[in-house]
Amino acid sequence: MSDGATARGSATEREEARKIAEGLEHLSGFGNEHSSEAVPGALPVGRNSPQRAPLGLYAEQLSGSAFTEPRAHNRRSWLYRIRPSAAHPAFTRTGNGALRSAPFTQTVPDPNRLRWNPLPEPAEDTDFLAGLWTLGGNGDVTQRSGMAVHLYHANASMRRVFSSADGELLIVPERGGLLLRTEFGMLHVEPGHIALIPRGVRFRVELLDETARGYMCENYGAPFRLPDLGPIGANGLANARDFRAPVAAYEDVEGPVEVVNKFCGNLWSATYDHSPLDVVAWHGNHVPYAYDLRRFNVMGTISYDHPDPSIFTVLTSPSDTPGLAGVDFVVFAPRWLVGEDTFRPPYFHRNVMSEYMGLIEGAYDAKTAGEGGFVPGGGSLHNMMSAHGPDRETFDRASAAELRPQKIDDGLAFMFETRWPVSLTPQAARAEHLQQGYDDVWQGLERHFRPLP
Ligand SMILES: [Fe+2]
Repeated sequence: MSDGATARGSATEREEARKIAEGLEHLSGFGNEHSSEAVPGALPVGRNSPQRAPLGLYAEQLSGSAFTEPRAHNRRSWLYRIRPSAAHPAFTRTGNGALRSAPFTQTVPDPNRLRWNPLPEPAEDTDFLAGLWTLGGNGDVTQRSGMAVHLYHANASMRRVFSSADGELLIVPERGGLLLRTEFGMLHVEPGHIALIPRGVRFRVELLDETARGYMCENYGAPFRLPDLGPIGANGLANARDFRAPVAAYEDVEGPVEVVNKFCGNLWSATYDHSPLDVVAWHGNHVPYAYDLRRFNVMGTISYDHPDPSIFTVLTSPSDTPGLAGVDFVVFAPRWLVGEDTFRPPYFHRNVMSEYMGLIEGAYDAKTAGEGGFVPGGGSLHNMMSAHGPDRETFDRASAAELRPQKIDDGLAFMFETRWPVSLTPQAARAEHLQQGYDDVWQGLERHFRPLP
């Protein structure tokens, strides 16, 4: 091989993938009924399962919700493919690597505030799947409830194909662009974007840069949807039209392809004699999508105080209790702060919900930036009822600041906020990159109480 190529793929391959990624077309909207065909005439007209599907394709339904769920929540797509998904040999167990699943019972749930540095650099030839590292989570994959917090680091493009039957995958890149080749077509995401792969959808991650790093929420529960807007009205927060779904694109590849399936917490592998990314046309609403977080329409006060951070919800996975999310995905995007007589950084609080926070770039306005602090690629966990908020330095600065209009535009942070405490995996509880002494950021908050005489 030339061009400095290794098993991880050459710079030329990355350039070609980037060219494809930057030229992609997409479909616009969230949750709507899309349709797309890579070859004209591949999509049946007027019915889903004709006696003979067009062009000799196989028709197949992929159900992301029970058949009988209400229409507003029903998710399914019809795929027209070269071979049906059923045409595969038996799966056999393969190693789980550092990927773990709920229930997370190997550590005692920890009430302490915890913070991690970024994952160390991955070993040579680590693809996205091999580079998945589970921090923790809650619920139970077999009950389709709860979530897991994973991080990923990779320096090689996937040659194999992956899917999770256990949940949908919300990928939050922090370093390095990704080309996601899915059954439905391709998506391009860069740091600051998110991608969602629905439950059961097969995909491959190709790197557009030498390395990739980021976060992934595996949502075992109800599919993410846009939050209701209530009195906000018809527009705002994440606008539906800014979500990108792929257009149909297929691989017509004969030959061995490894397909890895995550099922009830374990990885299972089979070698197909063809690529399962062979969908020539499709229609439906159970589709992968991507979204640029910088398009988030941030709402906040124009008088005093902060609205609760639920105002920053991009996507929510509802539970059986109205308003109580299995997991919310929340973004702290660039915004203006103008509140009068208001402590402007996030306030001190204790929350029944549990909060895992990550940082995509820059700094977060409640925490001092820099080495040993809350840094891009790192994360913090503030479990149920743990007391947190601005650190000492931030409190002192914000309490004394002159309250002029102020633009927060040097960071992009996010939160996976979940109704149940996050239990750690042993590897997260004992990680070398778990920071020691995080509690110290709240030390030295001085006593200012002066009772009136
Ligand atoms: Fe919080």
